[in-house]
Amino acid sequence: MTMTNQKPFIAGNWKLFLTSSEAVELVSTLQEINHEFEEAQMVVIPPFTALCDVHITLQGSSIQIGGQNVYWEEQGAYTGEISALMLKDVGCTYVIIGHSERRQYFGETNATVKKRIKAALSHDLTPIFCIGESLEEREKGETIHKVQTQISEGLEGFNEDTVQKIIIAYEPIWAIGTGLTATPEQAQEVHGFIRNELSEKYGNETGSCAIILYGGSVKPANTFSLLKEKDINGALVGGASLKAESFIEIAKEAIKAYKEK
Ligand code: 13P
Repeated sequence: MTMTNQKPFIAGNWKLFLTSSEAVELVSTLQEINHEFEEAQMVVIPPFTALCDVHITLQGSSIQIGGQNVYWEEQGAYTGEISALMLKDVGCTYVIIGHSERRQYFGETNATVKKRIKAALSHDLTPIFCIGESLEEREKGETIHKVQTQISEGLEGFNEDTVQKIIIAYEPIWAIGTGLTATPEQAQEVHGFIRNELSEKYGNETGSCAIILYGGSVKPANTFSLLKEKDINGALVGGASLKAESFIEIAKEAIKAYKEK
């Protein structure tokens, strides 16, 4: 199965923000004006505690839901963890895996990323697999090497069919929550590399159909120029997805950019 990228893919990662009632209020607003961004694939990724209520609020909507992380065991004595089965149960179709904040603060490694991706896929959850370099790595000219290693270790042993079910999000760590965005050229360079790498390792179809998102200080003002780039298929938005107004503007800018591609 390959995914299509006819529509821009806009996902809002709400991180450790919003209570359940705040999350419901936000998705209710999005839902009301859903028709304004029908031409984008919209996904909201609330904290675990809000998933159930958000799912109920979004019944029948085209806006989809994701989890922010997943443990690789389905059930057991793993206090504090959430499994793919549980995410499915509350309506998730996507899950973020290997976000740099998980890597930085919670000891996530490429090896654990791989286990989580496998667990997600075994329950038909689409992984949004995050990769990206730190400022120090960029300054030392190690960006491509870093991203290449994350791909080869995170996807180690996977075949073409499996890789075709995975969305990749390139999120340069230095651009996350800092207000610094990669320029469209900087982002395109890495996205182009990722697509080529996927083509080389998993065949042309895998590379050409891959959905590759950009994340890191995406806001309405920079969405158009980023999404116009050939290999950028959407955005993984943090801060600007917490307000309906800016999230909707981002979707509209993305749709505009896609029309002009
Ligand atoms: P910001 O958009 O707040 O920089 O966050 C990006 C991000 O980490 C999305 O996963």
